[in-house]
Amino acid sequence: MIETERLILRPFTEKDAEDVYEYLHEPEVHCFADMKLNSLPEAREAVKKRLGETEYHFAVELKETGKVIGEIEAYPEPGEPHAGENTPKDTFSPCWMLNREYRGKGYAYEAAHAFFDYLFTRKGARRIYAYTEDYNLPSQRLCERLGMRREGLFVEFVSFVDDENGEPVYENTCQYAILKKEWTGRAGGTAEL
Ligand SMILES: CC(C)(COP(=O)(O)OP(=O)(O)OC[C@H]1O[C@@H](n2cnc3c(N)ncnc32)[C@H](O)[C@@H]1OP(=O)(O)O)[C@@H](O)C(=O)NCCC(=O)NCCS
Repeated sequence: MIETERLILRPFTEKDAEDVYEYLHEPEVHCFADMKLNSLPEAREAVKKRLGETEYHFAVELKETGKVIGEIEAYPEPGEPHAGENTPKDTFSPCWMLNREYRGKGYAYEAAHAFFDYLFTRKGARRIYAYTEDYNLPSQRLCERLGMRREGLFVEFVSFVDDENGEPVYENTCQYAILKKEWTGRAGGTAEL
């Protein structure tokens, strides 16, 4: 569990299904299209799959009300294309989303900042990178507020949905990243080198 001023990041419980349904019944970004939940029973199944995730996937609970207003996750990966069996898994790529009613209040920043700190200080992260569609300005602003560098723009990089003719719709993807030493060096970062 990770606690911040206004939030608790904690593992999911079965009671969270309604809250998860609320923010995942209409995902706005294409990269979450396959997470779309069409009904409450589907949400209950989705939450069951999240149960037992205690290290890398957290519900974001608003302390004041106990409501789950979103989620954040990132799993360790080798982070380099020629990784072998012994390559350390010291790279993480977070996925974040908030219930739209709770955006614009700094909650995503508060959650992501605490989560980055946790990954850098307790989970051996060396580098955290994020992909975001070029049209997803709120997510880009979040990356920048967290001190991530914009590393590049991959043109027509990935497709999550098809058009009306069944052809893949390719999207331009921005990549942002921050290293542990950069996190430590910036105000607010508390990771030790
Ligand atoms: C990406 C996402 C999580 C960002 O949420 P957010 O609420 O905009 O992000 P933050 O927590 O950083 O909040 C920042 C905004 O809150 C405002 N704010 C208000 N009170 C604040 C406070 N106490 N502290 C900090 N910011 C505050 C800021 O001014 C800022 O507004 P701005 O973006 O208009 O400049 C959200 O848009 C989302 O869930 N999108 C759908 C899922 C998604 O796209 N995920 C990423 C896929 S790549």
